[in-house]
Amino acid sequence: MTAVGSTPYGWFDESAREYVVTRPDTPTPWINYIGEGGYGGIVSNTGGGYSFDRDPRNRRVSRYRYNAIPADQPGRYVYLRDQETGAFWSPTWQPVRRPLDAYECRHGAGYTRIAGELDAIAAELLYFVPPAAPCELWRLRLRNAGVRPRRLRSFSYVELSYPDALADQQNLDWAQHIFRTRHEDGTLLACTEFRPDTTFFSSSAEPVGFDADRERFVGRWRDLADPIAVELGEPSNEDSPRGNGIGSLCHELELAPGEEREIVYVLGIAGDADGAARAVAAYREPGAVDAAFAALRADWDAYLARFVVATPDPAFDAMVDGWNPIQCRTTLHWSRFASAYETGLGRGMGTRDSAQDTLGTVHAAPERAHETLTRLWRLQFLDGHAWHQFFPLTGEGSVGHAAERPAWPQWFCDDHLWLVIATCAYLRETGHAAYLEQRVPYEDGVEETIWEHMLRAIEFTRAHRGPHGLPRIGFADWDDTLNLDHGSGRAESVWCAMQLCRALLDLAELAGELGREAEGFRALARETAAAVEEHCWDGAWYARAFDDDGRPVGVAAEERHRINMNPQTWCVIGETAPSERAERALRSMEEHLGTELGIALLDPPYDGGDERVAGTATYPPGAKENGGIFCHANAWAVVAAAKHGWNDAAYDWYRRILPLLRDDSDRYLVEPYVYCQNVCGPTHPQFGMGRNAWLTGTASWTYVAATQWILGIRPTYRGLRIAPALPSAWDGFTARRLFRGVAYEIAVERAGPGNAVSLEVDGVAVAGDVVPLPPPGRDRVSIRATIAS
Ligand code: NOJ
Repeated sequence: MTAVGSTPYGWFDESAREYVVTRPDTPTPWINYIGEGGYGGIVSNTGGGYSFDRDPRNRRVSRYRYNAIPADQPGRYVYLRDQETGAFWSPTWQPVRRPLDAYECRHGAGYTRIAGELDAIAAELLYFVPPAAPCELWRLRLRNAGVRPRRLRSFSYVELSYPDALADQQNLDWAQHIFRTRHEDGTLLACTEFRPDTTFFSSSAEPVGFDADRERFVGRWRDLADPIAVELGEPSNEDSPRGNGIGSLCHELELAPGEEREIVYVLGIAGDADGAARAVAAYREPGAVDAAFAALRADWDAYLARFVVATPDPAFDAMVDGWNPIQCRTTLHWSRFASAYETGLGRGMGTRDSAQDTLGTVHAAPERAHETLTRLWRLQFLDGHAWHQFFPLTGEGSVGHAAERPAWPQWFCDDHLWLVIATCAYLRETGHAAYLEQRVPYEDGVEETIWEHMLRAIEFTRAHRGPHGLPRIGFADWDDTLNLDHGSGRAESVWCAMQLCRALLDLAELAGELGREAEGFRALARETAAAVEEHCWDGAWYARAFDDDGRPVGVAAEERHRINMNPQTWCVIGETAPSERAERALRSMEEHLGTELGIALLDPPYDGGDERVAGTATYPPGAKENGGIFCHANAWAVVAAAKHGWNDAAYDWYRRILPLLRDDSDRYLVEPYVYCQNVCGPTHPQFGMGRNAWLTGTASWTYVAATQWILGIRPTYRGLRIAPALPSAWDGFTARRLFRGVAYEIAVERAGPGNAVSLEVDGVAVAGDVVPLPPPGRDRVSIRATIAS
């Protein structure tokens, strides 16, 4: 058996919680994130990537070239030059790509460390953003591992972007005329005449020279593999009055055998030059860099310590204790905005996406979840629907892709309902009932309480129903590409009916807790579920939607898209289906859509355009929403299976998309330590290839599926529920979870088949499966749960 996470390109270091990349030439850049939602960026296993402050479109710091032209460049580089021989190389392999004698990249929570050795010069670059800092640090350590003294020069390289990243890519004459650099006491500053915001790049050691202009540094008709400044070993020491600004500082290094040197580079953006000087000065203080790194580690450790598990499955533990929550926190910060696939130029954050991102983080970052939810509720209109997307810095909202079809509905049927579901999850986790009284403005005027916002969300969906009494789909539902309403106002989403029922049942539960009227919510849920049962059951599964003409989509009578997975899982999650139909629906889903690498979203896929569904059929068969394996939707299958009591199916479906189990990197291509959004489906020539790693709702939902459904540890208003759907191969597990300030030590043991739970809390038997909240002052609770029929 190979170790968890081992691939031809790396392995998972469990003790350090790091993914170790052992070859630089990974099939795609395997990236990591630095920063915690303020200043941040992406960094690949060869130092590639870009940085920004809060908003990659409106406050960009450094550039990146899209479409891999050239592959994974530029980045945060340091060239090393042997002054005796003139030989030069990059310890991160890129951009020179000279083969190294040794190479290792370690991606950890919030940092990346790349070590490269050549000709007895051992170099290590550590990249990270200190908590709450407006800048990033690159700590370069060099060691002469040889037996003779060495004389070296180092040249750093970062390509600066005009802060409006779109203008930087679009209007090259304007942006390059106005963005200038100047050099002051070893620091490069870049800004325009009309904005005080200043990008800065500096180092902890006195440089012997600098470069600020890309063309001068690289040279005519050369590229980053052989820049003229490095080849000649001479910086130009010229400011850049216009053009492509860079940050390059040259240092002279003399290293005796065994001697080590350290240089710390600081890259960031501040409101003005004084702010830049302050940030730079802060990291010149002795010990400041080590202290900042220790603070970063401590912050991540505290976040990850909120939930820790030990099961018989090391891959499960590695994900749940490490990379899955790391990915969840990253999606919470950046939604779907800035990655190696989303360029940070366009779409901004997604309303539904950010709402779902809180689900996997609320236990560990409740304040941030609160802030996100409040920000999202501000995107709601008085009629109850919400903007589909927004920019985090400016708050500017948009309808996303819907803008391309102004005659079609300009709203999505699910955005506002996710807000209800996520707010209820936040309240179950935190018990912060006062949040419901917080007043938040609507996009178009007055402010009201969060409770009233929730009621308006439900009211919008209630008021926008189609001929079958189901929610109208609007421009689309969760599946952005399912564009069935071409102006008729009649197309409906079956999936959204199920989502509405989930939101209503959550609200009814909350209202009951608060002593408010709950029956209205339940009645509407019953009415909606009855409409689903009456109109949407297709004999062996549920239809997906109805088009403009009231014709069903996702039914057996169709030639394409005969079955879609989402209504089969959400009939369980939304509790709309009677048990036998739910069972049949799940079975049909596995039978028609199941593969060894996950469940395809629909089948058969469209093959060529199809005006009726518009977006979905723009993809080739087997890609993304057109029959690809959409990992996000697979997580719902895990939840549904566990909720339905299909323990082994839940576990099996969970493992099918588990990235640490994909050792076929030359097929899978993407990072093995985080989830990707989609895997090409069985009808695609590249079946099994992963795409769009990192920023996906898969992160939060797989975390919820694993922790709340397979392990069954679910927050409720009254206490922590322990209701595992234990795989039959497991004899139990232990977990530690912080809930409302109390540390719960949980030991679960299987004593027989079935899912019935007997609880002992601090040695005393407790009826039911909910551990009551302990009296104030208690900060530790020990639980033994025995599972049998
Ligand atoms: C990715 C989008 O970011 C998300 O909002 C959407 O739900 C899925 N694609 C499915 O279309």
